[in-house]
Amino acid sequence: MKLFDPHGFGNSTLSYAGLLEKIEILRSTLRWAPRLERAEIEKLLNQSNALRDEVMQLSRKERFIEAAADVSDVSDAPESLESLDKPEALSPSAHRRREALIARSFIFEGIFGDNPKLLAALEVAEKAAPTDLPVLIDGESGTGKELMAKVIHANGARSERPYISVNCGAIPDNLLESELFGHRKGAFTGASSDRKGKFESAHTGTIFLDEIGELPLQGQVKLLRVLEAHEIQRVGSDEPIAVDTRIVAATNRNLRELSAQGQFREDLFYRLSVIHVTLPALRERRDEIPLLISWFGDEAASQLKRRPVKLTPKLRDFLLTYAWPGNIRELRNVVYRLSCLAGDTADLEHLPDDIRPVTGPGPAIAALPEVDGHGSPLSLSDAKRAASDEAERAFLERGLHETGGTVAELARRCDMNRSHLQMLLKKHGIHSKDFRHADKTDREKES
Ligand SMILES: Nc1ncnc2c1ncn2[C@@H]1O[C@H](COP(=O)(O)OP(=O)(O)OP(=O)(O)O)[C@@H](O)[C@H]1O
Ligand SMILES: [Mg+2]
Repeated sequence: MKLFDPHGFGNSTLSYAGLLEKIEILRSTLRWAPRLERAEIEKLLNQSNALRDEVMQLSRKERFIEAAADVSDVSDAPESLESLDKPEALSPSAHRRREALIARSFIFEGIFGDNPKLLAALEVAEKAAPTDLPVLIDGESGTGKELMAKVIHANGARSERPYISVNCGAIPDNLLESELFGHRKGAFTGASSDRKGKFESAHTGTIFLDEIGELPLQGQVKLLRVLEAHEIQRVGSDEPIAVDTRIVAATNRNLRELSAQGQFREDLFYRLSVIHVTLPALRERRDEIPLLISWFGDEAASQLKRRPVKLTPKLRDFLLTYAWPGNIRELRNVVYRLSCLAGDTADLEHLPDDIRPVTGPGPAIAALPEVDGHGSPLSLSDAKRAASDEAERAFLERGLHETGGTVAELARRCDMNRSHLQMLLKKHGIHSKDFRHADKTDREKES
């Protein structure tokens, strides 16, 4: 069952799983809708639950029909028939694991993807959520740590209780204690009234300590005490206040390394990481880039009130092979940018400058040597010859890149004799096989 159109954003063929995903996203959005009253949220949640149940029933029906038709595959039939009802009987395929999570009413909070590492992280989150055990989420920037923290809160027993997020890297050292634990009036200059800290606000709910690796050592000691005693003291007060707060922390740093370097307390690390979830970088889950492009493309289209933008094969190749150091956040931003800047179809030129690949010959002049072999300035005729050689080489390389290394095709396109072309390639030491791509056949089909 196809979830996306690999040739662009448009014409998505959404499966039942895809529809269920969309409903999940809707439910997650509703749960956090800032401008709605609780009663309205409940009503809309009930409606989306009913819709979800309907889609699930249809999905079961389709599976029943598929299974009945496929009588020859006896081993698969019972699994297909009952897979949504009995998740433990599912095959380990990633798609089914995700469907099983959906069937168990797992709340994804918009986390997308079928990659096994991501699913493993979600399965850990599912088990950890109903407990009060501290969870440490790590992973590179933009891999979805904050989303994962919301997933843990939303799937737990505290989901109706407060969820308080604190960015430990953004609080000045001198305000840290007051921010986390509150203060008494007059505790320091500017403390004009009593104030609750984040821990008290999160009482009975969850506190999300983002960028925990940035917490200064002094703050770490205080946090350790809260974890041990389950109580805090406001700045300027001796009175202990009991707090019942579930702690979820996140970092894009390696806390083990930080503790080896003496920058993070080892005892705190062990306290926080009773459950440790690591989110994979996008380059480790390339298999879901097309799905994410498709999803964000649809999302951007509806936000920008336009048709989903199409991608040229070159741009699609780029998006599928780019390293994505900023992970899903970067991918999402790029897709929104393409959807905003491009007309019907986006191409490499619509990419941000800093990631756009250098195409074409580039400034041939820049590639010219400034002096000849004897160190004398280049004569005009030598400069012309060198520029012409450079342009010829760039022309050949670009042509081979565009034809996926097919010399015959390049000869046809440029209306050149094939053996002459071979001779030019030899002159420049260019090997056509260096331009062959694994997905060449796809590209040829599309071009
Ligand atoms: N699996 C996913 N599916 C869909 N969207 C995702 C996924 N993971 C992350 N995102 C989106 O990517 C963006 C970044 O996610 P998030 O803020 O959770 O990352 P982070 O790991 O906390 O990043 P940082 O370390 O920079 O704070 C958000 O817009 C989020 O909605
Ligand atoms: Mg974050």
